[in-house]
This record gives sequence, C-alpha cells and structure tokens, in this order.
Amino acid sequence: MSAGDAPPVITIDGPSGTGKGTIARLLTAWLDWHLLDSGALYRLAGLAAQDRGLDLDDAHAVAALARGLDIAFVEGAQDTRVLLAGRDVTDTIRSEACGALASQVAAHPAVRDALLARQRDFRRPPGLVADGRDMGTVVFPDATLKIFLTASAEERARRRYNQLIEKGMSVNLARLSRDITARDKRDAERAVAPLKPAPDAILLDTTSTDIHVVEEQVRQLVRERGLARTR
Ligand code: C5P
Repeated sequence: MSAGDAPPVITIDGPSGTGKGTIARLLTAWLDWHLLDSGALYRLAGLAAQDRGLDLDDAHAVAALARGLDIAFVEGAQDTRVLLAGRDVTDTIRSEACGALASQVAAHPAVRDALLARQRDFRRPPGLVADGRDMGTVVFPDATLKIFLTASAEERARRRYNQLIEKGMSVNLARLSRDITARDKRDAERAVAPLKPAPDAILLDTTSTDIHVVEEQVRQLVRERGLARTR
C-alpha cells in the first residue's frame, strides 16, 4: 500500500493523565475507526517479561518475548478486554506497577523495534486513532492530524488516582504522584522515541478544560482536516 492510499491516521500523544486514552476512545467511537492503545502493548510486554522472570534490563530477551507475544483485544458490550496468551489481563495491566514495568521495557530500542510492525498493522480502513507517546513522531509520521495533550503534573496525578480508585484499586496519592513523575521522566529522557510532540503536532493543555470541551476541540480539528465530512 503506498502512502497515498494508506488509511488515514490521527495520533493522540502525551504523558499519562492528560485524558489521551479517553479522547482516543471517544474519537474512535465518533468516527467509527480502529483504535490503537499502544501503551497497552508496552504494558503487556512488561507484564509478560516479569511473569517469565526475565531481567528487564536484558533488552535482547525482552525484545524476543515482545516480538512473539500472543495478544488479543476483544471487543465486548461494555469495553475492550485485553488477553495475554488467552488470559484476561485487562485490569492487571492498568496498575501503576504495570505502568512502571512498561516504561522500563519501553526504554530499550530493540523492544520498540519489536513492537513497531505490530502497531502499524492496526492501520486499516476506514482509519486509525493511535494513542501513545511516539505515535506522531515515530510510528505514524505521515498521520493526517497529530494532537499532543498536556496537563499539569498535579492534575495528571489526581486524574490517574481517580481512574485507579474507580477500578477498585488501592492507591496512595503521594506515592502515585512520585511514581508518575518518575515514569514521565524516564519516558521523556530515553534516547529513542522520547516523549515529545512532533513538530507538526497541535498542543492542547487539558489542565482546566472539561474532557468534553477537549473532545469538541479535537472534533473541530478533525473536521478541518476533512476527516469527518459527514459529521
Ligand atoms: O499510555 P500508557 O500509560 O498505557 O503507557 C505505559 C508506558 O508505556 C508509558 O509510560 C511509556 O513508557 C510506554 N509507552 C511508550 N510508547 C508508547 C506508548 C507507551 O513508550 N507509544
């Protein structure tokens, strides 16, 4: 498939707690497109590596594991279930502990490389909304619309706290805040595909904006790019 007839992609990048997952899901439902939750792939790689007892610093071993991961995203009536080798790990991978594992394995270029083709395979007609850290910079540099969401560190920690509490997990806000700061620092400082906006990304600060206002701002951008003519 040449770049000209490849299905369109909208990338939603940014650190955790900016509302990027929510916006990506809302946009996917509105457009009736496919969704790539790339963070879930890194979380699955981190979890699988831990389950196998691998040394997370052993880039070669973790990359080999990541390349062959048996993953399935199953659409249910309520949500999408994530299966790792047939086991439902939807809730397990959402913990901050798993986020930290993901961030550790994501720092290895070999692991990123192992997941690259798998991520690009999600690009199917009529289009793809891709949520992550390097969607606009590395995985889909030719995306039609690139959004980069930001929010203050305090607000992001508060949102993640509420999300985890809603999922019934026990969380300590101060510790969560420290863990998120450490994860963001690692993601932003790594040598390969660090967390940063693509030069042609549109930055939206969501700190004090209601998620539905952000959603409407993004919809407007989607319309302006001619990606949703009928909506
Ligand atoms: O988005 P989410 O919080 O699920 O991502 C978990 C971790 O996976 C991030 O902190 C980051 O280290 C890694 N990640 C990445 N590149 C992506 C998506 C996630 O490095 N595109």
